Amino acid sequence: MNYVFSDRIAGLQASAIREILKFTAFPDVISFAAGNPAQEAFPIDDVSRISNELLSKNPILALQYNITEGYTPLRDLLKVMMAEKNCFSDNDELIITAGAQQGMELACKVLCNEGDTLICEAPSFIGSLNAFKSYNVNLVGVELEDDGINLEKLEVALKANTNTKVLYLIPNFQNPTGNTMSLEKRKAVYNLSKKYNFIIIEDNPYGELRFAGEDVPSIKSLDADGRVIYVGSFSKILAPGLRVGYVSAPKEIIQKMVVCKQVSDVHTNIWAQAICEGFLQTCDLDAHLHRLRAVYERKCKIMLGEMDKYFSKKIKYTKPQGGLFIWATLPEGSNMLEFCKRAVEEYKVAVVPGTAFMVSENDKTNSFRLNFSTPTDEKIVKGCEILGRMTREMLD
Ligand SMILES: Cc1ncc(COP(=O)(O)O)c(C=O)c1O
Repeated sequence: MNYVFSDRIAGLQASAIREILKFTAFPDVISFAAGNPAQEAFPIDDVSRISNELLSKNPILALQYNITEGYTPLRDLLKVMMAEKNCFSDNDELIITAGAQQGMELACKVLCNEGDTLICEAPSFIGSLNAFKSYNVNLVGVELEDDGINLEKLEVALKANTNTKVLYLIPNFQNPTGNTMSLEKRKAVYNLSKKYNFIIIEDNPYGELRFAGEDVPSIKSLDADGRVIYVGSFSKILAPGLRVGYVSAPKEIIQKMVVCKQVSDVHTNIWAQAICEGFLQTCDLDAHLHRLRAVYERKCKIMLGEMDKYFSKKIKYTKPQGGLFIWATLPEGSNMLEFCKRAVEEYKVAVVPGTAFMVSENDKTNSFRLNFSTPTDEKIVKGCEILGRMTREMLD
């Protein structure tokens, strides 16, 4: 059979980078390529207790259909939590989604027509970029700097693309760079959204994982006229396998997202939603987050310390204040893809080539992503020593 697929998905291709990532499954490879929470970050006893109680005391709730907007007690709790952070106002509504990923997909679906421009940071989170691409938007990447998107280049892109509907940003501990956007830039992009009349999607799955520096107010908290869609997630603070995320946005937008979610998956897994609600109700979230931050602070410190010790000084890298990732950059003229390929094939250490996070894999970057949350402390030390030796052999 010769299958003819829709034009809509014609541009979505299995990535060439998978060739590198497939090595990460080999047992002798140390992988810095994942983005999973640390094993010790999962509150297994609490989740098991909450799930057991739910199934013994309220099984029908866990197993029955529920409403598309999401489990009401969980939504009510999140509305209060979001309101405390000025991320939920009287004009807003909140929908529970199947992870933050679905939040991005629904936001694009309800706002963008084919050909509308959606601007993102370059590099950015590939899951969102693929969701946007599946709606055939004109995806435009604008250079990301240490303190957030380059404002001059953003304005150039806005002038060049007068049909810009959405700006997608990950302001805290960005995936893949680990960078955090300054308050000045958050205010500036919000002002640009008024001047050029576009919506901002603020994706914040890592915001609670700050282990250094001071919290920066969200863009949503600056929003006075309903221009910001805020997307949150339980993936990095509780468990990604639950697939529970949420979107706080103006009521009109959420109403449309509800209709679209109805045709997509009816509602997010209610069992998982009730576990999230049970966790918020019966566990000490602050103490849990405190513990997570300590785990990631330790792991990040170990990785940066080992990189300082072993890496060629010609490699530059970010010093994240939270989240799960470090972004390393090879000197001008290096062949980054070849570097990542050799690292995994010959030295048995996997990192993700930066091109995986660009709007097009043909966009140039000399950078690669390292993850410090998934490998054990011992593997971080060993992997950095090996990778460091490779960088010195290649560059010094
Ligand atoms: C920036 C960013 N947004 C969204 C997601 C998707 O998260 P979720 O598991 O909630 O769908 C991820 C996952 O890694 C991410 O890094």
